[in-house]
Amino acid sequence: MKPPHILLIVGGGIAAYKACELIRLIRKAGMSVRCVLTDGGAQFITPMTLAALSENEVFTTLWDLKNETEMGHIQLSREADLIVVCPATADLLAKMAAGISDSLATTVLLATDTPVLAVPAMNVRMWQHAATQRNVARLRSDGVTVVDPDDGAMACGEYGPGRLPEPVAIMERIEAALGRRPIGKAGPLAGKRILITAGPTHEPIDPVRYIANRSSGRQGFAIAEAAAAMGADVQLISGPVHLPTPPGMTRIDVETAREMAAAVDATLPADIAILVAAVADWRTADAAEQKIKKTGGALPVLQLAENPDILAGLARDARRPALLVGFAAETENVIEHAQAKLARKGCDWIVANDVSGDVMGGSENAVHIVTADGVESWSNLPKDQVARKLMEKIADVIR
Ligand code: CTP
Repeated sequence: MKPPHILLIVGGGIAAYKACELIRLIRKAGMSVRCVLTDGGAQFITPMTLAALSENEVFTTLWDLKNETEMGHIQLSREADLIVVCPATADLLAKMAAGISDSLATTVLLATDTPVLAVPAMNVRMWQHAATQRNVARLRSDGVTVVDPDDGAMACGEYGPGRLPEPVAIMERIEAALGRRPIGKAGPLAGKRILITAGPTHEPIDPVRYIANRSSGRQGFAIAEAAAAMGADVQLISGPVHLPTPPGMTRIDVETAREMAAAVDATLPADIAILVAAVADWRTADAAEQKIKKTGGALPVLQLAENPDILAGLARDARRPALLVGFAAETENVIEHAQAKLARKGCDWIVANDVSGDVMGGSENAVHIVTADGVESWSNLPKDQVARKLMEKIADVIR
């Protein structure tokens, strides 16, 4: 098998020097790497440095005719298995989010369908600025993996999130993005089989219409990604969503609640189950085999039937996972309803969130972890941070 090839786009920030160490690690892992250096990047390191370390020609400009005939910008991205933007400056992230292509780097990024891993580094205020956070959220929903920057002292003398993660940590993300991270081999959840449901279910009315809900699947997918990154063997059962499969897991796509119940049953046993899916409570009692036509007379009446409660069923199952976590989407009295749901469904934890705002389909979530021991409330966090915090809490109790 051909070793993976990385296209590394080096942006203009003081952290650009760390790209040199990253190139060394990429090559040490047996991969090849080719670099694109932005004008800003070239203020911090030289093409010569990158060429020497990568042992490959370095590309800097879109307007290089020789390269457009021999190695065009399309070819640059096409030959790569993964594009890594490191450091990804606020400017690069903004241009990526807006689809601007005014340089070789941004043109490559717009012209590609290769997976992209962006590793931001910038001043803490630039990182926390609403515009940058909006751009990051947009990029994540476009399928770009944006790594969270580290917290700490910065070159500009300030303190906070914005530092480029250490090259070793970036390397781990590269391996994960390439699906090379051995599943169940490393991390605090190594050897644990985790079943996760995510997304909505669609319940057909007739061949062209269905009953659905606003779930985007993002929270469930973020949890699956965090679990896999911690070494778990993840089985992700997803309703209809528009999301790429995070690296290193098995994904089973379903449409209806009954299909989801069957997939859960077929996936058991599991050590842990986290049911994030917004399962439709009802389906039509009889989905029409042909498209229902307007008759001009009486309006059609939809007769509903109750769907199986997957969570409650799992709680009663002889193969019940050691830790069973349900989610609760509530629009009022969030904690009281979640406590009642915990008792009614027989699970161990309920992760409750208030969906009266734009949580469903949004990028942030404020959740309460409701257990028999009490309630732990987390402040509003991006969904990937909720995911990581939840998986860390699970890793603590399951050990
Ligand atoms: N759930 C499930 N199967 C269903 C309905 C819900 O497995 N048929 C799971 C969800 O995945 C979630 C939890 O149960 O983990 C709670 O979902 P929610 O929709 O909030 O609960 P409901 O039982 O539908 O309660 P209600 O609609 O009365 O709030």
